[in-house]
This record gives sequence, C-alpha cells and structure tokens, in this order.
Amino acid sequence: MPAHCAPQTLSITRPDDWHLHVRDGAALQTVVPHTAAQFARALIMPNLKPPVTSTAQALAYRDRIHAAAAAAGHSTFEPLMTLYLTDHLPPDEILRAKDAGIVGVKLYPAGATTNSDAGVTDMRKTYATLEAMQRAGMPLLVHGEVTSPEIDLFDREAVFIDTQLIPLRRDFPALKVVFEHITTREAAQYVQTAHGAIAASITAHHLLYNRNAIFTGGIRPHYYCLPVLKRETHRQALVDAATGGSPRFFLGTDSAPHATHLKEHASGCAGCYTAHAAIELYASAFEAAQALDKLEGFASFHGPDFYDLPRNPGQITLHRESWTPPQSYPFADTTLKPLAGGEVLHWRMA
Ligand code: NCD
Ligand code: ZN
Repeated sequence: MPAHCAPQTLSITRPDDWHLHVRDGAALQTVVPHTAAQFARALIMPNLKPPVTSTAQALAYRDRIHAAAAAAGHSTFEPLMTLYLTDHLPPDEILRAKDAGIVGVKLYPAGATTNSDAGVTDMRKTYATLEAMQRAGMPLLVHGEVTSPEIDLFDREAVFIDTQLIPLRRDFPALKVVFEHITTREAAQYVQTAHGAIAASITAHHLLYNRNAIFTGGIRPHYYCLPVLKRETHRQALVDAATGGSPRFFLGTDSAPHATHLKEHASGCAGCYTAHAAIELYASAFEAAQALDKLEGFASFHGPDFYDLPRNPGQITLHRESWTPPQSYPFADTTLKPLAGGEVLHWRMA
C-alpha cells in the first residue's frame, strides 16, 4: 500500500500479555509500569530465585506487582499468577491454586533457561500433579526445549515436540497446554494441527528478527534469548501463524529484563526486554506482513478466550508517529537496555 494510503491510527481492544517476566524488589518499579501502561493483564512467570512454588508465594508476589503498578498510577492492572512446576509440586496445591485464581502452572525442563535449576528432571515425577491439573482444568504452560547437551541448540524446540510434548499430551489428552514463546516452523505447524486444547504464545522479537540479529557487525547480546532466534524461514512461519487469524496463537512478549552488565558479559544472560514498547513492536511486525487488521485478535481476543477469561473492556489507540525509545532505563541499582532502544519506531501508543 502506498504510504499516503496507509492507516494513521489503529484502535484495538485493550490487549493482554500472556508471558511476562517482571523479577522482584526494586526492579518492579521500572518494568511493571511499562507493561501496565499498555496491557490490562499480564501472565507473570514464576522463575524467581527461589521459584514461586506455592499459592501463598504467588499471592504475595501478586501484591508486590500490583503495588508497583498502582504506585505508577495503574491501579487497575491485573497480574495473573502462575506456579513453577518442580519434581515435588504436590497435587493438592493445584486445588488451592485454582481456588485462589492462579491461572497456570509453568513447566521448565531443568536447566533450560534463566533460573530453571529447580525445573523438572523427569516428566514421570510430575504425573500425579499433571493428573490433578487435568482434572481441575489448570493449564500447563511449557518452555518447550529439551536440555540434552548433545542436541544442537537450534534443534531443541523441534526435538521437544517429538520426545516430550507428543507423549505428554497422549498421556493427558484433556490437559490444556500452552506452548510458550514458539520459535520454529515445526512448533507452529504442530500447534496449528494438533487435536485438543493447545495454543501458543509468540514474542514480538521472534516475529521481527532472525538469528542474524545476534551476529550483525559483532556479537549482540541484547538479541540473545531462549529459545534462541532461529533462521528466516522459521521467522516467516511464525509471522504466518500470528497473522493467520487462528485462535490458537496469541501475544506473549516474554519480556525478560536483565541488568546491562549481566547481558554484556562473557556468559551473558538470556532474555530480551520489550515491555517498554511491546505493542508498538508487534504493530511493526503485523504491518510488515500487511496484517494490521489481525493484530486485535492476536493481542486481545485469542488469549482470554483460551484461558476462559473475559475479553477486556476499553481500547488502546496507536498512532503512526516516529519516536525513539531510550537506550537505557534505571533498573534497581543498575541499568537495563531495552530492545530497539535508540532506534526509530513508527507506531506509538497514545
Ligand atoms: C527468560 C528469563 O530471563 O527469565 N529468558 C529468556 O531468554 N526468555 C526465561 C525464559 O522464558 O526462557
Ligand atoms: Zn519467558
């Protein structure tokens, strides 16, 4: 479409972020207001140190997040909480969690990503708890990567589907599963065609970048996340999935803040920070695919529909406007570099 015919504003139902890391303590003061300015709700990941493994811990964490939002003037922001699945999460904790409004239980294969040391070492050890989740209608949210060192880093998601996810779903056919932050054509195809209650979240950075971004002009640690960015054919498959209108795909930023000095490090942490401009980054990706009309379903409808929660009242409006996010934010007693900081973006939320 010629530039002078392109839409200048875009209003959509207020969206939700279905996969978010906000950390804890003073860090909340920077990152929670960024999310709360755009999203009505966000599904909060439980990979704190130590992880959030009980309903009581999750509710106390929710209060701290809520207080950080309210202090910035976003008192209606609703953090949706998750528990961290370990080899020892007791089945009766699932009922307590369900009653308290906990929205999901997160599976990290042990060692798969940041703060996942307490993760599951053998799926069999979790079967009684998964049984309780299936019965209670509690969704399982999976970080879908195998951790075996002999499997190539770029193949770990595809191998997870065949060796872990398919057997798991065979054993628990009624368990609701969200394949979190998918990064490959294989994952998109599996979610699109599988039977039963399954959906996937997709990040903005996996829609916008392929793995070249990590290596352009030198090693660029702020583009390093897990699952790692993949080759261009996979990025295109994710764009097709996100913009295709299927209710099985929805927005989850996986915004994952780390202090600058821990990213720019000999052993840099995995995680891209995108909460400062999340909906703008998604709008860029959808516009590049000429699919801005599909953004609302992906960002605002498919997530709540899958989680059996009401769609949000109210709207947000994006304007076509060039602006440059800052290169750095204060972050507790250090700093945080956002993705696309110092670069020009072409959509801006009013
Ligand atoms: C996340 C983090 O830093 O907590 N990092 C990441 O690269 N996405 C963990 C995760 O979701 O894998
Ligand atoms: Zn994550």
